[in-house]
Amino acid sequence: MCGIVGYAGGKRSVEVLMEGLRRLEYRGYDSAGLAVQLEDGGFEVLRRVGPLRELERAVAERDGGFGLVRAGIGHTRWATHGRPSERNAHPHLGNGGRVAVVHNGIIENHQKLRGDLERRGFEFRSETDTEVVAHLLSERLEAGMSLPEAFGEVMGLLEGTFAIAAISADEPGTVVAGRRQSPLVVGLGEGENFLASGVPALLGFTHRFLVVESGEMVVISGSEVRLAGPGGEPVEREPFEVEWDAEAVELGGFSDYMSKEIHEQPRAVRATLDGRLGEDGVVDLSEVGLDLSGVRRVVVVACGTAYHAGLLGKYYIERYARVPVEVAVASEYRYSDPIGDPGTLVVAISQSGETTDTLAAVEAARSFGGRVLAVTNTRGSLITREADGVLLTRTGPEICVAATKTFVAQVVALELLAMELARCRGTLPDERLQELATELRLAPERIQNTLELVSCSLEQAVSLFEEARCCLFLGRGIAYPVALEGALKLKEISYLPAEGYPAGEMKHGPIALIDETCPVVALFGDGVHREKTLSNVYETMARGARVVAVAPPDDREAAQMASAVLPVARAPEAVVPLVLTVPLQMLAHGVARERGLDVDKPRNLAKSVTVE
Ligand code: F6R
Repeated sequence: MCGIVGYAGGKRSVEVLMEGLRRLEYRGYDSAGLAVQLEDGGFEVLRRVGPLRELERAVAERDGGFGLVRAGIGHTRWATHGRPSERNAHPHLGNGGRVAVVHNGIIENHQKLRGDLERRGFEFRSETDTEVVAHLLSERLEAGMSLPEAFGEVMGLLEGTFAIAAISADEPGTVVAGRRQSPLVVGLGEGENFLASGVPALLGFTHRFLVVESGEMVVISGSEVRLAGPGGEPVEREPFEVEWDAEAVELGGFSDYMSKEIHEQPRAVRATLDGRLGEDGVVDLSEVGLDLSGVRRVVVVACGTAYHAGLLGKYYIERYARVPVEVAVASEYRYSDPIGDPGTLVVAISQSGETTDTLAAVEAARSFGGRVLAVTNTRGSLITREADGVLLTRTGPEICVAATKTFVAQVVALELLAMELARCRGTLPDERLQELATELRLAPERIQNTLELVSCSLEQAVSLFEEARCCLFLGRGIAYPVALEGALKLKEISYLPAEGYPAGEMKHGPIALIDETCPVVALFGDGVHREKTLSNVYETMARGARVVAVAPPDDREAAQMASAVLPVARAPEAVVPLVLTVPLQMLAHGVARERGLDVDKPRNLAKSVTVE
């Protein structure tokens, strides 16, 4: 949560900072701000409450440009300490206004540090934990330290997680930054260098990046980048190239990123399968570098949408490989007393690769010696460095806060893992593996068909939500995790209370919610216990529910009983959850748009949850 960006070089700093913030806005949009070093040796600081467009307006309205600017930092905020206000917006200034700081994360000992600073005469202007850093730095700068020296010392005083960047009016052309757990990358340019919370922020300017490891700090200027370890020792590291192009983070004719990313799902699935699925059905996961033959048990840890992908992974792994799978919400698992042994494979799923709870769950799993496989969309992310092996989903960057294409790609990656485990354990004959490979290869086409089918019938389904005050999503078997995911999508972007339930369990409580203002979305398809689900849906109709049936177009009974149908391509078991997911994403999108909401930036949320 929160995005930070930094620039040194003097060619174009305000442009870089604003573009970087635009691409990081998914990380938080409570306020935004920037600080730039001016030619006369001072700072210009602009901060605005609300989404980035407020800051954009302030930049545009500023009289007479910024002149020569040699370095700057910017921030987009997801509030933790102190409500969204201009006073609490970053950058924060130290006493005397000679140092400015932006921060992502939480400084856990800020209260103690604040008390000590107040006793030493420092005055605080905000309620944030970040302001202590600005004062600690300025105290050291006044005592004659350079910014890098002061920064190194201050990092040692901070507890918690953070990525921080700072500039000083007395050291033009330099940005200093450091991190502990929270993400930070350096972008390498010609005569200019960059910093950001994530690679997508800088894709318009460079494709060469340098990782900053947890505990390290970095000093950038237009001509050099210096990394240092926790003791100040110089660190040498090879840069890496990112092949995502800048267009991947543009809207490309869509009205919003969610819509764009929903429509990118056939491509996301194809890319995730590419090179990993031979014609003969043999899965090639050699890139992961883990010997899977000794796996006796699997534990999946993840949050939110990634957790739902994990539930589908359990289904496939248990069915194909006959290995027991536990799926745990990472924020709970990290505080459990985990059971396992070296034969346990821990699968940590995280689109961003940054989710604090998932990273902590991985650490908890280390206690029993399990090997860790990370399933992530983000090369070079924190989780890839914690894990023993990495399986990348290759969807390109996902900008919309609500996950869509990364979910289907995670499911496909887990299916590949299930097939590979089945092969290693000899639990499926070669012919069945070949069949599964053929089925999976059809997935992009089936998803594409479904996108087209749903586009023509969405309006009727959306209209059922005009007066809705809540919604139930019902599915059985493999459709149950999809029901959970559909409910999550609807509530997070349309703010409508929604529950995903196993259809048969509904009678044990949620049926009390049913009346004409509680639409029921029911999931049908091959291998999802259609008949049983139908009976359950009739039970809700008898209590006044209006039903949206998500079903293949030739399922006449489902169509006749329902008030609206969202048609899906008929698909085999390996593909059913993928095609059932698409209409639920589109429904959530349609309902949210109908309510006039910003689908890409739902309130209170941020894309990467880097706090507990
Ligand atoms: C929902 C959503 C979240 C994330 C969750 C985990 O649409 O996006 O529930 O799935 O915050 O994030 P990652 O996968 O980055 O660990």
